[in-house]
Amino acid sequence: MLLQSERYQREWRELEEEFQQLQETHKVYRQKLEELNNLQAACSSSIRKQKRKLKDLKYSLQRCKHKSSPEESDLIQQINTQIKDRQNIFFDMEAYLPKRNGFAYKDEYEKFKLYLTIILLLGAVACRFILHYRVTDEVFNFLLVWYYCTLTIRESILINNGSRIKGWWVSHHYVSTFLSGVMLTWPDGLMYQMFRNQFLAFSIFQSCVQFLQYYYQSGCLYRLCALGKRNHLDLTVEGFQSWMWRGLTFLLPFLFFGHFWQLYNAITLFELSRHTECKEWQVFVLALTFLLLFLGNFLTTLKVVHTKLQKNKDEMKKL
Ligand code: COA
Repeated sequence: MLLQSERYQREWRELEEEFQQLQETHKVYRQKLEELNNLQAACSSSIRKQKRKLKDLKYSLQRCKHKSSPEESDLIQQINTQIKDRQNIFFDMEAYLPKRNGFAYKDEYEKFKLYLTIILLLGAVACRFILHYRVTDEVFNFLLVWYYCTLTIRESILINNGSRIKGWWVSHHYVSTFLSGVMLTWPDGLMYQMFRNQFLAFSIFQSCVQFLQYYYQSGCLYRLCALGKRNHLDLTVEGFQSWMWRGLTFLLPFLFFGHFWQLYNAITLFELSRHTECKEWQVFVLALTFLLLFLGNFLTTLKVVHTKLQKNKDEMKKL
C-alpha cells in the first residue's frame, strides 16, 4: 500500500512538472501570438496607407503629365513604372496576411445568387406560361449568360480569399455560360419550339433547387463562422455536423433529380439532332453540353458525399 501511494505521488509530481512546463510554453505562445497579431495588423494598415498614397500620387502625376517638359515626362514615366512594381509587391505581401472581409464577401456571393435566382425563376415562369415570344426568351438567356459569367468572376475572388470550392463547381459555371450562350444563338424554328418548354421547365426546377442550396450553404457558412468565434469547439462541431447531414439528406434527392433531368435534356437533344428537319448545329452541341453537365455534377456530388462520409467515419473512430 505504501509503495503504491509513493508511486502515485511520484506520478503526480511528474505531471505537475510537465504542467508547469506546459504553462510556460503556453504563456510564450500567447505572447508570440499577440506579437504576430500586432505585426499582421501593422503590416495590413501600412499597406493600406501606402496604397492610398500611391493612388493619390499616381493621379497627381497623371494630371501634370501633359504640362511637363520631356525630362519631367521621363521622370513621371519612371515613377509610374515603380508604382506598378510596388503594387505587385503589395499583392505578394498580402498573400501572407489574413484576408479581410472573406466572410462578408462569401455572404454577399450567396445573397447575389439568391436574388438572381428569384429573378431567373420569375423570368422562367413568365416565359413558360405568359410570354411566348422569341425576344423574351433571348432576354432570359442573356440574363443567364451574364449571371454565370459574374459567378465565375466572383468565385475566382472567393478562391483567392481561401474558399474550398472544388474545381468542378467553378468549371460548371463556365460550361453553363457556354450552354446559355449557345441557347442564345439557337434560331427559332421547329427544333427550338420542340425543346423550349422542357428547357424552361428545367430552369424553373433548377431555380427552386438553387433556393434549397442557398439555405443549406448559407446555413453552413453562418455555423462555420460561429464555430470560429466560439470556445466550446467539441460541442458545436458536433452540432454543425448533425445540421449539415440533415440539410444534405434533404437536399440530395432534389440535386440528383436535377442531374437526371440534365441527362434527360441531353437525350432529348440527341434525338432531336437525328430528326430529319434538324439543321441547326446548336442541337448537337447543347446535347453534348448537357451530358457533360450531368456527368460533372453527378460524379462530383457523389465524390463530395463520399468524402464527407469518410471524414465522418474517421472522426467517429477518433472519439
Ligand atoms: N457552387 C458553388 N460553391 C460550392 C458548390 C457549388 N455547387 N458546392 C460547394 N461549394 C463551396 C462551399 O460553399 C464551400 O465553400 P467555402 O470553403 O467558402 O465554405 C466549398 O465549396 C466546399 O464545400 P463542400 O464542403 O465540399 O460542400 P458543401 O457541403 O458546401 O455542399 C453540395 C455540398 C453537394 C450540397 C454542393 O456541392 C452542391 O450543391 N452541389 C450540387 C450542385 C449542382 O449539381 N447543381 C445543379 C443542380 S440541377
